[in-house]
Amino acid sequence: MINIRLTGSKEQLFNGDIRQQIDSWIAKYPAEQKQSAVIPSLHILQDVNNGWLSKLAMKAVAEYLDMPAINVYEVGTFYSMFELNPVGKNKINVCTNISCQLNGSESIVVQLKQRLGIGLGETTNDGKITLKEVECLGACCGAPMMQVNHDYHEHLTFDKVDQILDGIK
Ligand code: FES
Repeated sequence: MINIRLTGSKEQLFNGDIRQQIDSWIAKYPAEQKQSAVIPSLHILQDVNNGWLSKLAMKAVAEYLDMPAINVYEVGTFYSMFELNPVGKNKINVCTNISCQLNGSESIVVQLKQRLGIGLGETTNDGKITLKEVECLGACCGAPMMQVNHDYHEHLTFDKVDQILDGIK
C-alpha cells in the first residue's frame, strides 16, 4: 500500500515562485489543455519538497490545473521518478531491466547494496542516499546504467560505480 503523507501548509508548498514556474509550463500548451503541465508541475513541487511529493502537493497541483485530484495521484503513483515518501538527499535509480540485466546489472546492484549497506528501496542511516531499482530508463545502449539524481551513468563497471559513489556529496 502506498503511504502518501501530508507535510507543510498548502501556501508553503505552492508559493509565488512555484506558481511562476508552473505558469511557464502551462503557457506551452493550448489554454484549454493546461492539465498537460501536470508532469513538470509535479517535478517542480517534488524538487522544492526535498525530493518527494506529499498528498497535499498533488492536491494543490490538481486544483491549480483544474484536474480531478485522482488524476494527479494516478500520474504521481505511476512513474518511478516521483516519490511519495521522504527520500535521501541523493537518489540512485539502478536499472535492472532486460538490456541492463544482460549486461551485468545484478552484480552492480550487489555492489551498490554492499557499499551503501542498504537494500533496494532503502535510505542510508545518514539520510544521504536512497537506492531504488527501476525499470528501463531509455538508455539501453549504455547498459548497465544507473541514474544519480538527474544524471545518467552508463556502461557501468565496478570501478566506475566506486568512483560515482565516492563523488556523491
Ligand atoms: S534496460 Fe536499462 S536502460 Fe533500458
